[in-house]
Parts: sequence; structure tokens; C-alpha cells
Amino acid sequence: MDTPAGTILKTLRAGVTTASAEATESLGTRLAPAVPDNTWVALHGDLGAGKTTFARGFARGLGIEADITSPTFAIFVPYDGPRRQLVHMDAYRLNGPDDLDDLMLDDCLRPPYVLLLEWPGRLGDALPPDTWHITFTSLDESRRTIRLGQRSAPAWA
Ligand SMILES: Nc1ncnc2c1ncn2[C@@H]1O[C@H](COP(=O)(O)OP(=O)(O)O)[C@@H](O)[C@H]1O
Ligand SMILES: [Mg+2]
Repeated sequence: MDTPAGTILKTLRAGVTTASAEATESLGTRLAPAVPDNTWVALHGDLGAGKTTFARGFARGLGIEADITSPTFAIFVPYDGPRRQLVHMDAYRLNGPDDLDDLMLDDCLRPPYVLLLEWPGRLGDALPPDTWHITFTSLDESRRTIRLGQRSAPAWA
């Protein structure tokens, strides 16, 4: 697939090391159009690994102008885009999949959407089976490795 979508998928599957927050954001912007409608994308990685930065760029790629920040009180925040909704979710404060039932997420999802999920490990097996998984690893202060992969790869939390 030599389309722009094919190129970014190939790049991310191979793994990319970015040297700045802007470069990570730009990867998110490029990936957004390549993600199918109604997909959950799990963003794995430690605090500061760049998950929210990537989500900020991803929102741009969906044509969303609102600034994406870490949700402080809400577990998820929906944003309306010109064609698709973005739901940015941070499961850090959830204690398990059962907590999800109380959030009424289903009432907020408006297909076509893309759901970006930080701290996906908190939801255990509650993720849809076709969830995409992206792993963020900090190499040092300014470099992050970002890889799109299978769920069975490293110890994801
Ligand atoms: N290459 C990089 N990619 C992403 N963020 C970077 C990079 N280099 C430095 N940073 C900084 O690291 C922090 C990442 O924070 P954030 O995206 O909120 O992480 P997370 O959501 O994974 O906790 C930001 O302060 C950002 O400026
Ligand atoms: Mg974050």
C-alpha cells in the first residue's frame, strides 16, 4: 500500500523514534486518517512517554481544533470532528473493567468515532478484540520510540 495511509502504517509498525514532542504530535496527525471508523486505539507507556502528545496530534488529523489535554476529572472527553468523533480516554483512575459500566461511555460514543485510550491495562480484557495497540517508550529526555503492534507484544500496562 503506497498511499499516505499505507506509508504511516508501515512506518509505525516498524517503530519510529521521535526527537521532539512536535515530531510525536505529527505522527499522530498522520495516523488519524489511516485508522478505520469506530476503532479503539490503546496507547501504552509510562507517564511522560508521549501518549497525550500523540493524542493532540491525532485530534488535528481528524480536523479537531480543540486542544487535547490530560483529562483531570473526567475519565473520557468527547470531541466532535468534521467527519468523526474523537473520544480521548484516560483509564488511569479506573480500578478495573467493571468501573467502565458506570461511565455510560456507550451513550457518548457517536459513530463514526475513534477512541484513544491511555492506560488501557486498567480495562483488562474489556477492550474490543480489534483494538489497535501503540506502545510509547522513553529513551531519554527528548526521544521516544513509538510502535504500532500486536497486543501480545511486551508487558503492557
Ligand atoms: N519525542 C517526544 N515525544 C513526546 N513527548 C516528548 C518528546 N520529547 C519530550 N517530550 C515531552 O514529554 C512529555 C510527554 O507528556 P505526555 O504526552 O503528557 O505523556 P503521557 O500522556 O504519556 O503521560 C511532554 O512534556 C513532552 O513535551
Ligand atoms: Mg497522558
